[in-house]
Amino acid sequence: MPVLNKMRTEIINIKKLVNTRVENKLLRGKELADLPNLDDAYLLIEDGVITDFSSMKELPAEFKHSPSVIDATGQFVLPAWCDSHTHIVFATSREEEFVDKLKGLSYADIAAKGGGILNSARKLNAATEVELFNSAWKRLDEISKLGTGAVEIKSGYGLSVEGELKMLRVIKKIKEKSKLSIKATFLGAHTFPIEYKENHQGYIDLIINEMLPVIAKEKLADYIDVFCESGFFSPDETEKICRAGMAYGLKPKIHANQLNLSGGTQVGVKLGAISVDHLETIDDVAIQTLANSNTIGTLLPTAAFFLRMPFQPARQLIDAGCAIALATDFNPGSSPSGNMNLVNAMSCIQMKMLPEEVINASTINGAYAMELENEVGSITVGKQANLILTKPISSLAYMPYAFGSNLIDKVMIGGEWV
Ligand code: NIG
Ligand code: FE
Repeated sequence: MPVLNKMRTEIINIKKLVNTRVENKLLRGKELADLPNLDDAYLLIEDGVITDFSSMKELPAEFKHSPSVIDATGQFVLPAWCDSHTHIVFATSREEEFVDKLKGLSYADIAAKGGGILNSARKLNAATEVELFNSAWKRLDEISKLGTGAVEIKSGYGLSVEGELKMLRVIKKIKEKSKLSIKATFLGAHTFPIEYKENHQGYIDLIINEMLPVIAKEKLADYIDVFCESGFFSPDETEKICRAGMAYGLKPKIHANQLNLSGGTQVGVKLGAISVDHLETIDDVAIQTLANSNTIGTLLPTAAFFLRMPFQPARQLIDAGCAIALATDFNPGSSPSGNMNLVNAMSCIQMKMLPEEVINASTINGAYAMELENEVGSITVGKQANLILTKPISSLAYMPYAFGSNLIDKVMIGGEWV
């Protein structure tokens, strides 16, 4: 029997190996500031998996002469970002609305002109699956070079049976072809299509009776999401839609408390949601409810920034003991950026999170928010080798501090450099 050589990469002289963990743990409250690191380390990757790491003092002799060894003197190695909330399948960008807003139109004015989510839905329904795949693939390529190795992608710009299924089939194809770890979320309840504006029950019936059975049959989604917000879906409607999804095994991840005190956090916790996301507009009652639950609060600071809204009260949430993840919300309307490095910087600068807290929230807790904690999100033996190799930097805090610089040298996904 011939001995098959394993695909190996050895990284040596790593200045700091970041987020090294033996066991997984969803981090809440004070635990978020505890980031285990190893100074002056080596890391071994075999067949796409992390198989060993330790201090350089323990370096196995054969490493020094290996042809695949990388000398990372001065550089840091982190787990790749886990972006647990995006909408990266969309037909076109919406910068014309951005300019309209600069000229004084409000979100409501734009919606009244047929803009916003409905604008994206019209364009998505006119686009082919191939066009949608190609444009989403480019965004995925862009974010992987920015250090993202795992990503959740939502539907929600179809708002019709064909449109939603088309989006989810595109996500399925991306899942099959991409080296990134991907989770799909059905967000048919993103808004009410115009023809159902006065007939909410009609659209909810369409979601429950026409969309969900096909989604379940074709295994098109892992999660179900609802935009629980005044003017969109009420907590009761949210519950009804989520329960219908849950009957097919789809766990909820909910858009909650973005624009109003909508009750979204409470309904998410009641349903045992994996996460409630946004949380720009949240009160003490909702914070306490979240803190006393296993549901993760996912903060999306670039959406708050882009819409000029108050940032999420991260300190209050952490002080209350909540489990926090950070994500980009990459979408054409409220966060046209999938840059997790910027999310981290903004979380420090505007929400006063510590560098250690943002790294945990963007890696291990983000992995939990996609139920990928056994595959990615930390430097752990047996996990997939999804890594960021930084340029030489002075300290970990330099990453969010130097917010406009690209500090990534290379990104590895599943053992291969992208
Ligand atoms: O997560 N809040 C709802 N959905 C998106 C925005 C969608 C859009 O404007 O296209 C969000 O921010
Ligand atoms: Fe979103």
